Amino acid sequence: MSLRVFINIDHVATVRQARRTDEPDPVRSAVLAELGGADGITVHLREDRRHIQDRDVRLLAQTLRTPLNLELAAESEVVDIACELRPHQVTLVPEKREEVTTEGGLDLTGSNEDATRRAVERLTEAGIRTSLFIDPDDASIRASMGLGVDAVELHTGEYANASGEDRGLQLGRLDRAASLARKLGLAVHAGHGLTYENVTPVAAIPELEELNIGHSVVSRAIFGGLEAAVREMVEVVRRARLR
Ligand code: PXP
Repeated sequence: MSLRVFINIDHVATVRQARRTDEPDPVRSAVLAELGGADGITVHLREDRRHIQDRDVRLLAQTLRTPLNLELAAESEVVDIACELRPHQVTLVPEKREEVTTEGGLDLTGSNEDATRRAVERLTEAGIRTSLFIDPDDASIRASMGLGVDAVELHTGEYANASGEDRGLQLGRLDRAASLARKLGLAVHAGHGLTYENVTPVAAIPELEELNIGHSVVSRAIFGGLEAAVREMVEVVRRARLR
């Protein structure tokens, strides 16, 4: 199975929003990411609009040559926008206003499960592929399965933050979660905190079909340009599948 590399361009918008001006434009950066070999573009339309704006999503939906993966909280205001724009895929993510970035996978219990179910139903009715950003554990995978989604995105943040022996343990968790999800018929994606240095063992997990990578690529682009940064990341991921 080949592995698609989706590039998350939120942090291009973060730099723009630091001055609330019109540059750098994430829409223009998406063109460069595509030229560098990105298989798709990912953006997170947060409820607080701290980086990506409605205008960005609208223009990306109209102009991308590759699939758009729109990350959203399961809230009707942003789900309405997705149903109108109909991106290729929506990945539902948890959102807390005070967090610096998405901190953990979705909680799929109690009222959170109900809200996620409603959002999945609406998105599916609109013909949009659905994915849930979850921690790599059995309960989250089985709960996702029960919600009728097409895919799960395994949270790689704990793996990325781990060091020494713990890194191997976290990789084992991702490996087991990927094979369970695949066995249950779900497409398996992964992302968060992946870098040029830590992506190879994750990209080598055979069940994975899609990676979402942002911060590390945008950081490298500051020094070497976005097209080159994306090309290098795509090469690192492809090499992991050749070994
Ligand atoms: N996947 C999800 C669901 C995310 O929320 C993010 C961060 O916005 C990413 C992947 C990309 O993470 P990073 O920017 O650390 O590569």
